[in-house]
Amino acid sequence: MTVSETDLVRRLEAAIGPRYRIESRVASSPDRFLFLGNDQLLRRQVSLRVSLSAPGQAQSWFMLEAEALAQLDHPAIRHVYDFGTVGELAWRIGNWIEGEGLDEAVRRGPRPIPSVHILARALLGALEHAHTRGIIVRRILPSSMIVGPSGRGTLTDLRHSSYALRHIPADELGKGIAFMSPEVRDGATGDPASDVYTAGALLYFAITGREPAAAPEELVPPTRLRPAAPQVFDRLLARAMQRDPWARYITAWEMYEDFTSEAGEIASQATFIGPPRPVSEESVQHWELRLRRALGDDYELLNEIGRGGFGRVYRARDLHLERVVALKILEPVLTQEPAAVERFRREAQLAARLRHPNVVDIYDIGGRYGLLWYTMELVEGPNLAQLVEREGPLPRERVIRMLREGLSALAHAHGSGLVHRDIKPENMLLEPSGALKITDFGLAIALRGFGRLGGKISQSGTPQFASPEQLLGEKVDPRADLYSLAAVASFTLLGRPPFTGRNVQEILAKQTTDVLPDIEAERPDIGPELAQVLSRALKADPEARYATAYEFFHALASADQLQLENEQPFWTEMANRLLRRGMPDHPET
Ligand SMILES: Nc1ncnc2c1ncn2[C@@H]1O[C@H](COP(=O)(O)OP(=O)(O)OP(=O)(O)O)[C@@H](O)[C@H]1O
Ligand SMILES: [Mg+2]
Repeated sequence: MTVSETDLVRRLEAAIGPRYRIESRVASSPDRFLFLGNDQLLRRQVSLRVSLSAPGQAQSWFMLEAEALAQLDHPAIRHVYDFGTVGELAWRIGNWIEGEGLDEAVRRGPRPIPSVHILARALLGALEHAHTRGIIVRRILPSSMIVGPSGRGTLTDLRHSSYALRHIPADELGKGIAFMSPEVRDGATGDPASDVYTAGALLYFAITGREPAAAPEELVPPTRLRPAAPQVFDRLLARAMQRDPWARYITAWEMYEDFTSEAGEIASQATFIGPPRPVSEESVQHWELRLRRALGDDYELLNEIGRGGFGRVYRARDLHLERVVALKILEPVLTQEPAAVERFRREAQLAARLRHPNVVDIYDIGGRYGLLWYTMELVEGPNLAQLVEREGPLPRERVIRMLREGLSALAHAHGSGLVHRDIKPENMLLEPSGALKITDFGLAIALRGFGRLGGKISQSGTPQFASPEQLLGEKVDPRADLYSLAAVASFTLLGRPPFTGRNVQEILAKQTTDVLPDIEAERPDIGPELAQVLSRALKADPEARYATAYEFFHALASADQLQLENEQPFWTEMANRLLRRGMPDHPET
């Protein structure tokens, strides 16, 4: 904190008295500051908005804005509890809102569609409320719309409202025009239809991730920018954002009704609502109980199947479809960050597009009470790590089958632009029929983050199957998956990973010298051709490996073929011997 800021905090403390404790600074511009504070009397967090300007226009502006906020009482508009001035210092105390600015959220990508629905309902309800109190909001910047993990928005700023209009400094008037109606840009006080335009602009930003064109005539329909956007937004925003106010919805309520006539009023039950504070140790221990309650009428928890680095997998019954599924519940500490949840959601959307007999189908993703889960096809068999532990190294034919099926699955995924990034024995499940099912496509790493050497990736505890480029935190492409698959194949042949070490650095050192374990010496039954195929797939340099799953697959097929041919003389000899022995008229018998 700079000296002047320390000074500011001291003056503020003196002004507001002992009731409020200043906890931290959240944001600042040259003359405005936002602090997180604590109301010692009512024991709650509060927001402390501070303006530093000589009494005059700027301070009057700040005061009028606080007054405007104080006129309103709506859950989606910031509440003001108190206000005061001392000299150049003016402050207002309001409710603390957990979340982030819509601008910040959109920086990670357009908002999840169910969240935009929730935002639309809250925003239009809040505007209607303001209009019944005679206040036109006139402009809503994405940065002043705080969104929580469910998407629910809270309007925190009425700086440009009709109430404060006479004190808005001239140089402020032209800021954020994409979020003002054309008549407001021209200086009009505006009317409810002006706010209809602004609401349209804000929803446009949330659903497309882009500011709307300033000229209403140039507006690109949302579905053209984001094909998955519901059609209702094209229609809604085309009408809300007309240049002529009379061509728009006349009130926010009319727009709300049109939206809900199609999208309804029922928010998705499966919206992830994060806990406001990090989960305590104790609640982590009790999460199974929490989970049962969160799953409600949708799933019954049956029993735990296994635990991994970022969650637990349960057998669960889907109570609607009355079938048993696998349900993976994510470790709550990993889902505290909105960015992690969104990365996870995006990966799940991609993974859910895969349709392949050797890939575990994703069914659904959901969350409640701050817990996040997804459901998928239940595979009854063991994973490859368990199988090898139980039965030791696997027969050659079994390994070949695993490789063929794994490569077929990877070819399909890579063709859809998806890289698994965490191929390892625990993610390779075997059905009772022996067929391979790969799980966790892209999902494990989505949550763990794209960790670097010694970073998050080593938390998985299984860097043995990761490619060197992955361990180094470099860009990963499909060849990393092929490397990992070959490492898994060596594991199933030898009963141990090809490269081991006490830490990531040691493993990396072995990988990069390209000194492979002599698989053929230990497993002469696999033949030199297969050993060669694996050693090429395990080259440290991605350029030296097979470039695609197809290339790997063909090399494998011809190695397998060769092996059969090599075996031919042996079988012919055996058959001949048997034949000779079996001949009744043979001279030897
Ligand atoms: N769809 C499924 N059907 C049956 N069992 C599954 C399914 N998905 C996972 N499992 C089992 O649950 C165990 C735990 O899975 P989880 O993905 O949480 O951990 P992991 O794969 O061992 O490690 P990581 O967290 O790094 O992925 C797995 O080892 C696997 O055997
Ligand atoms: Mg897994």
